[in-house]
Amino acid sequence: MEVVILAAGQGKRMHSALPKVLQPLAGRPLLAHVLASARMLGARRICVVHGHGGETVRARLDAPDLVWAEQSPQLGTGHAVQQAVPYLSAGSRVLVLYGDVPLIGAHTLARLMDAAGQDKLALLTVELDDPEGYGRILRDGAGRVARIVEEKDATSDERRVREVNTGILVAPAGRLRDWLGRIGNDNVQGEYYLTDIIGLAVGDGVEIATVAPDDASETLGVNSKAQLAALERMFQASIARGLMDAGVTLIDPARFDVRGELLCGRDVEIDVNCVFEGRVELGDGVVVGANCVLRDVRIGSGTRVAPFSHLDGTVTGQDCVLGPFARTRPGTVLADGVHIGNFVEIKNSHIAEDSKANHLSYIGDADVGTRVNIGAGTITCNYDGANKYRTEIGDDVFIGSDTQLVAPVRVGRGATLGAGTTLTRDAPPDQLTVSRARQQSYAGWTRPTKKGG
Ligand code: UD1
Ligand code: CA
Repeated sequence: MEVVILAAGQGKRMHSALPKVLQPLAGRPLLAHVLASARMLGARRICVVHGHGGETVRARLDAPDLVWAEQSPQLGTGHAVQQAVPYLSAGSRVLVLYGDVPLIGAHTLARLMDAAGQDKLALLTVELDDPEGYGRILRDGAGRVARIVEEKDATSDERRVREVNTGILVAPAGRLRDWLGRIGNDNVQGEYYLTDIIGLAVGDGVEIATVAPDDASETLGVNSKAQLAALERMFQASIARGLMDAGVTLIDPARFDVRGELLCGRDVEIDVNCVFEGRVELGDGVVVGANCVLRDVRIGSGTRVAPFSHLDGTVTGQDCVLGPFARTRPGTVLADGVHIGNFVEIKNSHIAEDSKANHLSYIGDADVGTRVNIGAGTITCNYDGANKYRTEIGDDVFIGSDTQLVAPVRVGRGATLGAGTTLTRDAPPDQLTVSRARQQSYAGWTRPTKKGG
């Protein structure tokens, strides 16, 4: 089986410099969704017919199973498929898809392929309450498909037909090539209509099968940002439904976004307005509070992520507590039982079991031992303006508030750093180290008064 994806439309109504088929749905280009469904069916070769912005699309999505055909100028859907014909093998079956119809599912397409068999033409059609704008499916007295008429070419009787053409079809490659060579552009729009092959197929005695999609949303196209947003919600609703069916608690499935892959263990609970990007794994019993963004993270079981946390490229152990307002950046690895509190930023650091940084800290390029307590306002000064250096903090260290650790520097196990310390040399184990101007009080000192008043 081979696939042709029509993607030459400019998408003028998107009012965007980004080609329409690269507009993101759930974080991935529209065309990537269509490609994924085509690949799930085991397509041998996929020909993308592109026009405007073709090079950008190709640079973004090229792959060994893709061939790219340019359609310029764009003279209609029939003309578009014709551009792919040189790349099709004669004996194969061809499935025609659309780069801007992203929700089409592999299951529906598999049924369409089945209906087509080896030598039939199969159309994906839907019955709509409001068929305006679509090509109508015209059937003969016996109920067999006779032809498709475009809205603009239809009589008022024909416009009353509610069964419409989705545009998605399967045809034998050899026949398709022949029919496309015979269509003309003698119609209201002066275009070469792909839909005209149906009448030709009927004339050649080829049987036309029709199949309805599993869900009507699968056939919806994107022509505007409003339609893009509507499809985004439909897509998210189906992901949410799948997660809830598997036992995940979503406080509000309508306020929940997955832009990648979200894998959840048992009894996971997700509060409102969370965004999951890239690959995210949540272990058993993980609770994610409201308004969190998690990107490429793995959260160990029993860990709680409190509201407004932003976690990126992070792995946590079990029973950790993060946030509210925690920020972890790539390379953060937290062992079991670690607590990261509000306004704490962690980057490229390992923090061992049961250590805590509960308030207002920056921990970058550090190795922190177990049971360490990092006081409020502690900062690893990891950057000298040119190079980055590591900070090593041993087990059972206590770091007082407002401490700066000027890396490279080491704090020995069991050491205590007094509040306000600026540590520029290694701190020995088990001792108090403090660098701080000595406190003085001046008896009899009076405040200055305003002159001439
Ligand atoms: C087409 C169908 C119509 C169907 C409708 C479903 C034809 C003649 N009509 O109509 O029966 O109900 O889709 O949405 O096929 N494209 C190209 N090159 C072109 C023209 C179009 O690549 O020269 C692509 C567009 O980017 C788009 C798709 O084909 O993805 C459909 O084109 P569009 O102009 O939207 O077709 P409709 O007139 O809506
Ligand atoms: Ca200080």
